[in-house]
Amino acid sequence: MIKKNKIFVACDSTNISKIKKIIKFTSHTKLKIGYKFGLEFLNSKNGRNFVSKLKKKIIFADLKLHDIPNTCVSTIKAIKDLKVNYLTIHISSGLQALKAAKKVSGSIRLVGVSILTSLNNKELKEIGFNKDVKKLVIHQARLAKKAKLDAIVCSAKEVKIVKDVFKKEIITPGIRLNSKIDDQKRVLTPKQAFKNGAHSLVIGRNITKGNIKKNIQILIDHLNQ
Ligand code: C5P
Repeated sequence: MIKKNKIFVACDSTNISKIKKIIKFTSHTKLKIGYKFGLEFLNSKNGRNFVSKLKKKIIFADLKLHDIPNTCVSTIKAIKDLKVNYLTIHISSGLQALKAAKKVSGSIRLVGVSILTSLNNKELKEIGFNKDVKKLVIHQARLAKKAKLDAIVCSAKEVKIVKDVFKKEIITPGIRLNSKIDDQKRVLTPKQAFKNGAHSLVIGRNITKGNIKKNIQILIDHLNQ
């Protein structure tokens, strides 16, 4: 079970030596690891350059594009030199933007982000949505399918319902090994996420905070239980 499913380590820092440490202590493990660089690192002074020099790594650019079709397309063209394997776009950018993005993404796996795992029903209402999380996620999974996206991001709690409509890769953040959920709302453990059918997990703070080597061992033990 352990090698088949991927773990994307969220490299959320602006500190290059911290990122190097994360990579060093996570790459040669029993786990299949990819590295997720998001808005924080890719917008930092040396972040983009660092990613451009990474070799033989699965790279996930979590840019979470959320813009008009033309800007999404131009941004994908602008990031192509980075040779990333995965790139995210908010499904709520709209079907036209998703289709346009897919047209130019080439070999990059285009990942549709559904409702953020930091949101719950109450907060969705606050933003102005009148559907609950589950209904919205299913609705967006259908859009992701329509736009022929390569993968979808949702909470591990929604994997089963997403699977009914979206047959490709399902990636789940909001993963926690303990009850400290920080800013996340819809969380599950790695084991529960894989059990529900997630193909890949995104894990940040539970790996990168504190002793990384120790955290990886805790994760491996948890998956082997
Ligand atoms: O530290 P933690 O495990 O909560 O990090 C989760 C990572 O996944 C962060 O980098 C966050 O930006 C990203 N993410 C998320 N929820 C989504 C999409 C991405 O938490 N729906």
